[in-house]
Amino acid sequence: MVCDPGRAPGDTGSLTAVEFDPTSPAQREDPFDVLALARREQPVFYAGTFDLWVVTRYEDVLEVLKDHRTFSSAGALKSSPAPYPPEVLAVLAEGYPEMPYIIEVDPPLHDRIRGLVTKAFTPRRIAALEPRVRAITDELVTGFERDGSADLIERFAWPLPLRVLGELFGVPEDDLGRLHRLGLDWLLLQQHDLPLERRIAHARGTVELQRYFVRAVEERLDRPTDDLMGALVAERTELDPPLSIVEIAGLPLDLTVAGHVTVTRAIGSTLHLLFRHPSLRDDLCDSARAPQAIEEILRLESPAQGLFRITTRPVEIGGAKLPEGARVMAHFASANRDGCRFERPDALEPGRPDGSRHIAFGKGIHFCIGAPLARMELAVALPALLERLPGLRPAEDAAPEREELFFARGFRSFPVSWDPP
Ligand code: HEM
Repeated sequence: MVCDPGRAPGDTGSLTAVEFDPTSPAQREDPFDVLALARREQPVFYAGTFDLWVVTRYEDVLEVLKDHRTFSSAGALKSSPAPYPPEVLAVLAEGYPEMPYIIEVDPPLHDRIRGLVTKAFTPRRIAALEPRVRAITDELVTGFERDGSADLIERFAWPLPLRVLGELFGVPEDDLGRLHRLGLDWLLLQQHDLPLERRIAHARGTVELQRYFVRAVEERLDRPTDDLMGALVAERTELDPPLSIVEIAGLPLDLTVAGHVTVTRAIGSTLHLLFRHPSLRDDLCDSARAPQAIEEILRLESPAQGLFRITTRPVEIGGAKLPEGARVMAHFASANRDGCRFERPDALEPGRPDGSRHIAFGKGIHFCIGAPLARMELAVALPALLERLPGLRPAEDAAPEREELFFARGFRSFPVSWDPP
């Protein structure tokens, strides 16, 4: 091989010397050394703790994402193949266990659901949101700019995308805080290594979230609205057979969660990079350079570090033989730092010629449906934030806290200070 798939400083030359443990504090902070070593030594490896085959090289990750017949998304959201404990199942049975989520279904259902969203979630609808993104950004910053310090995750990075999605779907502002909490329940329900009481609580939150969106869809059957949820309800009859209420309700649920936690993470990761690379500020504040800077942030930080698939047949990939039914993690973050795809893969180089090849939004049939919205939100919000908070720096008295989910990269809190007006 002429290229170098990884950097691995202090590389001992053997994967056995390295433990893949994305939940450890050290690897939450920097998972990249381990992944680089894996790309070099054992590009597809089995992580026993998670019962996952982790695919780390760019070309192999693409193969997984493009071959959805072999690498199925059905039921792949769960972080473990182990069934839910009976106590959790009993709670889930009170909701809509059959509710499909676009991110974890295969064709033909995936084609039907995705076709419906594509019809309703148009570029025009996204463009129409831009002035609202600007206004919400201004309003949020006005709420704290005189304070001189804040946790920007709590005050900005999660309310912004959530309010944007609220407007998109016609969700009342008063409900957003609750939806944020319930969305985290839905995500954390997938994480199997939590104590039973927490898993039960996350199941309760999930059921409440499902009911919320089923009710919202039902209301629109009686009283049509022109928000995205109303458009999905209206378009559903175009399909033969039409999607059911529960199938429709899975969409705003999935999009609301997928569409806010990821943007929250991207904003947090931007702060993290900015404090290490102050020149990034100029890139982000120059409207001509900002889009490429945003792509580079997404490549380097990959807010969704990786997502899951299940093999439908025995398959060989990256030198590893996977049985049928193997759980696979397509590691976007690792692929995005593969030295065989990106020159100087660990360097922040906005405008790099290979920058558009990153797969932080995935690839293939599940490619992120919200990518244009996410890009627009970041391009509007980041420069506004930096211009209105001069001298932005990490807070001296509190450190940022990393997010809990092992397949995500972002922050739960990011305390900062600045020179108030
Ligand atoms: C920086 C922000 C974002 C990142 C990094 C991101 C990342 C991703 C990735 C990697 C996938 C592929 C999943 C897979 O292959 O299994 C995906 C799918 C998806 N994303 Fe995003 N996303 C972002 C923002 C958004 C937004 C704003 C929305 C909605 C408004 C959204 C909605 C979705 C949906 C619904 C899917 C599933 C599509 C399908 O299965 O066909 N995402 N996203």
